[in-house]
Amino acid sequence: MVASCRHADLVAAAGPYAQLVAAQRRHVCGATREGTGKAASLGAIFQPDGERQMAAVLIKNGRIVTAVDDYQADILIEDGRIRTIGQGLVVGNQVETHDASGLLVMPGGIDVHTHLDWDFGVARTVDTFGTGTKAAAFGGTTTVIDFCNQTRGASPLVGLEDWHRRAASASVDVGAHMIMLDVNDQSLTDMQTLIRREGVTSFKLFMAYPGVLMLDDGALFKAMRLAGGHGAMICVHAENGQVIQVLVEEAVAAGRVAPKYHSLTRPTSMEGEATHRAIKIAELAETPLYVVHLSAREALAAVAEARDAGLPVHAETCPHYLFLTQEKYDRPEFDGAKYVMTPPLRDANHQQALWRGLSTNDLQVISTDHCPFCFNEQLFGMKFSKQQGKDDFSKIPNGAPGIETRLPLVYDGGVRQRGLSLNRFVALTATNPAKLFGLFPKKGTIAVGSDGDIVLFDPRVTWTIRASEHHSRVDYSLFEGHTLTGSVKKVFLRGQLIVDGKDWHGREGMGEFLRRGACGTL
Ligand code: URP
Ligand code: ZN
Ligand code: ZN
Repeated sequence: MVASCRHADLVAAAGPYAQLVAAQRRHVCGATREGTGKAASLGAIFQPDGERQMAAVLIKNGRIVTAVDDYQADILIEDGRIRTIGQGLVVGNQVETHDASGLLVMPGGIDVHTHLDWDFGVARTVDTFGTGTKAAAFGGTTTVIDFCNQTRGASPLVGLEDWHRRAASASVDVGAHMIMLDVNDQSLTDMQTLIRREGVTSFKLFMAYPGVLMLDDGALFKAMRLAGGHGAMICVHAENGQVIQVLVEEAVAAGRVAPKYHSLTRPTSMEGEATHRAIKIAELAETPLYVVHLSAREALAAVAEARDAGLPVHAETCPHYLFLTQEKYDRPEFDGAKYVMTPPLRDANHQQALWRGLSTNDLQVISTDHCPFCFNEQLFGMKFSKQQGKDDFSKIPNGAPGIETRLPLVYDGGVRQRGLSLNRFVALTATNPAKLFGLFPKKGTIAVGSDGDIVLFDPRVTWTIRASEHHSRVDYSLFEGHTLTGSVKKVFLRGQLIVDGKDWHGREGMGEFLRRGACGTL
């Protein structure tokens, strides 16, 4: 039910975009939308069980934290879903019981930005769905939404089929966003099929990488208009690709080929410009918008201005932008290549703006943009390695790993060190992603009827990040040697214990495909 207000009748008569804008404006006015989303989607996105769990599981004595609650209680999970939440639950001794005394009990993390087993011709990410999702699970993430792509000239439905083959080894639940490379009558029809039949309800459009991934503004507009009319979300990679291309070509021609020129040729103003342009086109196309991997103050200002005007515009940032700065590109030898992702790392002023954006809700999600290439080529070959760009930064595969460290980094750096509330921590890493991408309340919260995706998190344990201890196949970590307090202790996927300390109890292929519902707004 839409919360009542004096515009309710008008809104009900209007199209989906007008309703979204009105809902967003109510939010700005201070009315709560929490109940609205729950009532509207409960049942609608619960799906028939694939793999049913027979055992019942009790998690007792924990401190349950959701995006809105914080209380002490026990959780009984049956057949993969949360059956009962209450204090002092009494169960028979056939029920598998886990004592969560002293632990935080939170919904499994949702990472809505990964590139697993992603082949884009010259390079391929090194994690399979099996290894990448196992790493995700050890980091407390039980749902991943991964990017699949259309091949130019072929249907995106073919791209999805191919993605399904690769994703079959996933050991946490997975959904797909579709990267659109051609926008024409046929692919616009295919987008509708993806939304209605395949449960792929979000699309990524690139404003960068001309000749490879970039769409022109007309194509952006057409794809956005289609998405807006069908309850789908448009995700944009917002950088001015053409201007950046000129800067890159000039740098290479002048012999400026070290990794630091990746950063120097991608100015923050060009991220800000593209973000502003994407918002304006989305407004005209009447579609909700989600800006991926936002890194720059100018881009954040554009998002904040749009949200203040009541537009359904959202944005995510990533741990590397929150914890690392551009000095990494000055590291000796070729080491700066490890940090070559797009957009690049920025300076401390941008970083402070991002932290502010998280607290003002201008940024609603923290995802990883896990796009792992090995540093060395010996392990899996040159195609999987940063070494491709040894003599020319523009040939370094863009992307960096991070799927296993998101929750602990944000807990330590956000909750412990910067006063982010625990509720906000859960909102940013699980609940908001679920609401925005059509998964709530099946995923993203701890409530009766929701999937039993639960993380037991020990807030007292201090540990040090070491790539050698990770479960990804990648051979480095952006955060090597960072010492954190707060660690994932146990992870349950639909009620099954899959991570217990250092022990793995999951298995490749146990992840389910998530046919997602209509995307939401926040
Ligand atoms: O450098 C990045 N971010 N690589 C992954 C592709 C993308 O733009 O998200
Ligand atoms: Zn991108
Ligand atoms: Zn990405």
